[in-house]
Amino acid sequence: MDDAGDTFKADVAALQFLVDAGLDVIIEATPQNRLAPPEPAPPPAAPAMREEAPRQRLVTEPPRRPEPADSDRQAAETAAQIAPACNSLDELRAALEGFHGLAIRETATQLVFADGNPEAEIMIVGEAPGREEDRIGKPFVGESGKLLDRMLAAIGLDRTTVYITNTVLWRPPGNRKPNPSETAAMLPFLIRHIELVQPKAMMLAGGAALSALYGMEARITRERGRWRDYEASFGTVPLLPLYHPAYLLRQPSLKREAWADLRAFRTKCGELGLI
Ligand code: URA
Repeated sequence: MDDAGDTFKADVAALQFLVDAGLDVIIEATPQNRLAPPEPAPPPAAPAMREEAPRQRLVTEPPRRPEPADSDRQAAETAAQIAPACNSLDELRAALEGFHGLAIRETATQLVFADGNPEAEIMIVGEAPGREEDRIGKPFVGESGKLLDRMLAAIGLDRTTVYITNTVLWRPPGNRKPNPSETAAMLPFLIRHIELVQPKAMMLAGGAALSALYGMEARITRERGRWRDYEASFGTVPLLPLYHPAYLLRQPSLKREAWADLRAFRTKCGELGLI
């Protein structure tokens, strides 16, 4: 298909995501900025009874990260030695190609390192490759990847303006979730990956990266849409966890919340001058 045809297809796909998220009016008498943050709610009337203070949106507590199981402890130690010594994305990829610490590597077809623009200022971290990613060697190219592309398109982003990787870079057999031990063993690579890309904003797609960076008690259902400050060696990066696209495919009614989170992400990126 020619470029115009591709653009049209991408526009229709992004529109479909918005419809799924609850959009029902496209044209109104006056122009509406659908990407603007919601109007602040009017101050509540004095409560009759004592109410709990609203939850803080910005979470700053230090991370309590998962521990590797004994069988993966050696892998975690090796990863912690070799990852920080990598001085470029090519070196990181080569270090991972030479890393045989985890059993999932042996059942996977190939390393699924990253996709998108390594110069991008926006970084997205997912969970782990699935079947299609394992086959093709790029993250988010299966069904959930197509939804991720539509979500990004809905806020004016695509793979030329973001950089995408995963928490675990080999497909766990049978598409199971990576276990906390595997996630812990891969963490030094993820941290170095972030340091090498130096994003100015990050989106976590699903709970795996959230648990890796902030501990197993950080649950996506509670944390989605709550901004965190990720303290990287190169500075503080605003980070927003969102529902994983695969979860949205199973629970389409949550697309409404995902759309609110995407708008918040778009607004922050706008404020930071990233889009
Ligand atoms: N799910 C992920 O988290 N990552 C992928 O690359 C594909 C599906």
